[in-house]
Amino acid sequence: MIKTRSPHIIPTMKIEYKLKPLCERRTTPLDCSHPLGFGQLRTDHMFLMDYENGQWQNLRIQPYGELNMMPGATALHYGQSVFEGAKAFLHNDNEIYTFRLTKNCERLNQSADILCMPQVPVEVQMQAIHSLLDVDRIWMPKQAGASMYIRPFLFATDDNLSVRPSEQYTYCVMLSPSGAYYEKGIKDSISLLVSTQYHRAVSGGTGAAKAAGNYAASLRAQRQAQSLGAAQVLYLDASNTYLEEAGAMNHFHITKENELIIPFFTDTILKSITSQSILTLGEQLGLTVKQQQIKLSDFINDIQNGNIIEAGGFGTAAVCTAVGHYLFEDGRRITVGDGNVGPIIKRLYETYTGLQQGKIAAPTDWLEHVASAQEVK
Ligand SMILES: Cc1ncc(COP(=O)(O)O)c(C=O)c1O
Repeated sequence: MIKTRSPHIIPTMKIEYKLKPLCERRTTPLDCSHPLGFGQLRTDHMFLMDYENGQWQNLRIQPYGELNMMPGATALHYGQSVFEGAKAFLHNDNEIYTFRLTKNCERLNQSADILCMPQVPVEVQMQAIHSLLDVDRIWMPKQAGASMYIRPFLFATDDNLSVRPSEQYTYCVMLSPSGAYYEKGIKDSISLLVSTQYHRAVSGGTGAAKAAGNYAASLRAQRQAQSLGAAQVLYLDASNTYLEEAGAMNHFHITKENELIIPFFTDTILKSITSQSILTLGEQLGLTVKQQQIKLSDFINDIQNGNIIEAGGFGTAAVCTAVGHYLFEDGRRITVGDGNVGPIIKRLYETYTGLQQGKIAAPTDWLEHVASAQEVK
């Protein structure tokens, strides 16, 4: 199996450790008998650093807690704030490995660029995240299907009410031991509301960034979806002609010719790392994986005439989630296959989580070992 043995043990910038006293930290592993939920738990510490005078400085790991920020901070008023979502896994060798984390660090910088924010060197992000995972390693969940969800984020801190890019920023990483995003995980399919009233993004906007404001703007559509009995929204382009993506997932469907089709990555769609991984794995999954522009009318016809046999969403949090039903604002509803999780999606889920958990050989560099403090210092 190819696992890259920590290239992050040589600190590129010095991190100051201001840790909790040992008596206030978790000392025993998490109880395996309780479901964890998603994104609810916090570990003992967080990583922080500040951007001032054009430089990143004051790298520190300190107890998880309140942030110091002025009420006039640009992030609070004008939403200059971006984030990432990645995962780390405990393997059978009892060591921790991050999964495709470099990709997340690179994407944070792409989002930062879209929002006129400074770049955070990928090496520094990697060092920050690996160091934090090491400090809080006792929090690694051991439940089947669980992982450490990693949430890096970057936000503007200038105390200034002019609408302009901030000159000061904070980069923070927090960790959340987590289970499945959708409560029933791979056991159950979800329903999506096809929204023609609300749109997530328009061309020329910020849809391809993991920008905080995109998620605030999605809440109203999500509220409508939930009121109509759907878990999430399937967004269309602004002309309501083509499929875009679903809530916190890229959308995909599988045809009876064994093709897995994901909409093209445009400037209105987040370039999902899970989708990119599936595109790379391609034939290894026994499928022809490709990207296409997908017309809503063709999509509906192909579900109804049986050409489309399974559909779902890809994302770090939701992994690979089956969509059993599409609901429409006028009350119509169509069902994919028998509405349950199909065999291909089950197999995709098993393969993908197998790669993440080190049970199936992953391509070079996809998994990176988290070195322990003795190796770091
Ligand atoms: C809008 C959106 N699309 C797609 C995804 C899936 O991306 P990834 O597979 O990188 O997690 C996410 C989650 O990060 C998302 O928020």
